[in-house]
Amino acid sequence: MKAKKYFEKANKERFALGAFNASNLETIQAIVNAAKNLSSPILIECSPGEINYLGLQRAVHLTRSFEEETQIPIILNLDHGEQPEKIKAAVDAGFDYVHYDGGKTPFEEAIKIGRELSKYAHKKGVLIEGEIDHIEGSSSDHTDESPNVSKDLYTDPKKAKKFVEETEIDTFASFVGNLHGIYSENKHLDLNLLEEIRNIIPHTYLSLHGGSGIIEQDIKKAISYGIVKINVNSEMRIAFKMTLQEVLNNTKEIALYKFMQKPIQETQKVVEQKITLFGSGGKI
Ligand code: 13P
Repeated sequence: MKAKKYFEKANKERFALGAFNASNLETIQAIVNAAKNLSSPILIECSPGEINYLGLQRAVHLTRSFEEETQIPIILNLDHGEQPEKIKAAVDAGFDYVHYDGGKTPFEEAIKIGRELSKYAHKKGVLIEGEIDHIEGSSSDHTDESPNVSKDLYTDPKKAKKFVEETEIDTFASFVGNLHGIYSENKHLDLNLLEEIRNIIPHTYLSLHGGSGIIEQDIKKAISYGIVKINVNSEMRIAFKMTLQEVLNNTKEIALYKFMQKPIQETQKVVEQKITLFGSGGKI
């Protein structure tokens, strides 16, 4: 089981696997180029919106074809699945890992759904991540102003423990200030809270969402406190969009493949920086 093997390795050797979002061929190409350059295992992940665009089976076939060609371990993840039937469909389609986002579901109900999905995923050798506190912010619109989020919305370690024990999920995604998105000010994590969560669920893998725009020092500390997976989306999207915009403003070229190279390269650079920061280079 590839996912289990690399999560275990990350846990033992104290590094984090980058989980990079993709919704098109060019982004997948950028992620795989970076992973290959640095000999890094990676997660490629698609949210339900990204799946709607790319196609569930196509996401599997595309990533498998890159994996065969490059021999880079690619753990395919359904990111922020909310509807149980969609999560089961990803398991059935051949995803290696699924994320159940119960952040908008009442707690007891989220436990019930999480338990059922956990059984379903484990039967097929798929790892499952769970979330119970909505991770605020957005990887979709790029605004400067960061949302003012009260610490009351952060993860309560006791609830995390109950959720993990009753669902038997493999990975827990907490909310400790790791907003989705990138803002004019860097994001800071509540590292004391993260450490408390680590201590109360010592045998569960920990995932960190909102990997764009967090100060590097906090990322390194978070890894030393047991984070083994970090999700990144906004920084890649911005690199891709800004570069494409600039290229299009300066060319009369209409052959798509000719002007897609630069956005791919700039997105690849972002992924390479993250792999280096997370310490997963050379860990195949
Ligand atoms: P960012 O957009 O902040 O990188 O977060 C991505 C993410 O957490 C996807 O689940």
